[in-house]
Amino acid sequence: MFGRVKSLDAILATAKKNSLHRSLGAFQLTMMGIGGIIGTGIFVLTAEAATKAGPAMMWSFVLAAVVCGLTALCYAEMAAMIPVSGSAYTYAYSTFGELLAWIVGWALVLEYAIAASAVAVGWSGYMVGLFRDLWGIGIGNTWTHGPLDPEPGIFNIPAFVIAIVVAALLYRGTTESARVNAVLVCVKIAALTLFIALALPVINGANFHPFNPYGFMKHEVADPASGHMVAVGIAAAASSIFFAYVGFDAVSTAAEETENPNRNIPIGLLGSLAICTVFYLLVATGAIGSIGAQPGGALATSHDALAFVMRAINHPLASKLLQIAAGVALPSVVLMMMFGQTRIAFVMARDGLLPAPLAKVHPRYKTPYVITMVTGVFVALFAALFPVGQLADISNSGTLFAFTAVTIGVMMLRVRDPGRYRPFRTPLLWVVAPLATAGCVFLFFQLSFYTLKLFFAWGAIGLVVYFLYSRSRSHVGRGHVEVHELDADVPPQPVAPLPGGIELD
Ligand code: ALA
Repeated sequence: MFGRVKSLDAILATAKKNSLHRSLGAFQLTMMGIGGIIGTGIFVLTAEAATKAGPAMMWSFVLAAVVCGLTALCYAEMAAMIPVSGSAYTYAYSTFGELLAWIVGWALVLEYAIAASAVAVGWSGYMVGLFRDLWGIGIGNTWTHGPLDPEPGIFNIPAFVIAIVVAALLYRGTTESARVNAVLVCVKIAALTLFIALALPVINGANFHPFNPYGFMKHEVADPASGHMVAVGIAAAASSIFFAYVGFDAVSTAAEETENPNRNIPIGLLGSLAICTVFYLLVATGAIGSIGAQPGGALATSHDALAFVMRAINHPLASKLLQIAAGVALPSVVLMMMFGQTRIAFVMARDGLLPAPLAKVHPRYKTPYVITMVTGVFVALFAALFPVGQLADISNSGTLFAFTAVTIGVMMLRVRDPGRYRPFRTPLLWVVAPLATAGCVFLFFQLSFYTLKLFFAWGAIGLVVYFLYSRSRSHVGRGHVEVHELDADVPPQPVAPLPGGIELD
């Protein structure tokens, strides 16, 4: 199983030559983390959490935050030690060998590409509301919901279109600058603050009862609104709302550009997670307390949850402002996720595991345009056909799998390679990493059976592709360890999406 390990020395030799200027401080890192984290999860999936746990979803937010915090500390050690492109895929290649690296890379497709689809669908829900409320244009479900939505349509055109537009931007070589990220972070924080300021004063204690309709552990029941079977319980809701925290990995991948990483990375990671957790808990309290959050109720079935709450408590202007904030800010999350996907696939193609033409770089724009087009079409089609909750869950399955590999990998490398220079060391590793592993595995199995089936089917396809195609073409397998980061045609590489700090033309 551990055959075909990519040499860490070879990887690091390149990273050293290629090292970036250390300029990021704790504040910038925290902003990057918040920019990556706040998105469709809180703006839309709050409804999903209500469906799965009712008012007890507050505990789901806490549970997901704790698992992410523990994982973030492990991620940071890996990212600081192996500050090269490929993120969890590269860590796995140098730790577990090619087969597991392949599976992690294959799972990361779910994490990034499907997350991009999920955010696109979330954006669509807010845009439909904005068209209706701002311009009086009501658009029915037919062209704004996918066929698998609990309120089915045929094709989600807005979600499809935003995914294609973002892919076109990436094709041209665009990504956010740190300044744009800072503005968008302010927009998102302002929107959540407005929500909290208006919702908290109208809390009614009665809305918290019954507090915990489904208990803690996952079980499946018929949803009172749609009649479909859904996985419910505090832990099941945590495994869905986990999506709201994904994106913090952006901070760890900036390790190489960070001043005093030992101090600043944990501040950036845990600081951004802590700030978002506080906001999420206040938002959840406001939403539950103001209009109630019972499964099958009004909040649970809304498509633009936070704007919906504002309308329900008679703040139509605030609802519109939230719709506008989501409309402006969510596409940047789609962009980050798609960016991450294209760069991981690029590295895998460069390693020979995916077809070489995918790694072609555009002569003028210097972007991996083939993989960008393929990713764009894939993301757009999934966004057009699937509902946001299912997409988020599928994405979470890939993320939790990759996170599990990282939390185990960090322990293995401490044992196998204890002398290696670690700019950041996970504090209390032998407590933190096992807890993180256990947390990720636990949340993974709290996902619905449907999601788990899809994940394992995707994994099985991945294994077939590996053994029929990739294994015999692998560059490491053929004996060449190639690290291409210095090649003139390599596109910008910080692979987990960096919501700032990368400035291209
Ligand atoms: N955490 C990001 C979001 O909620 C992925 O949109």
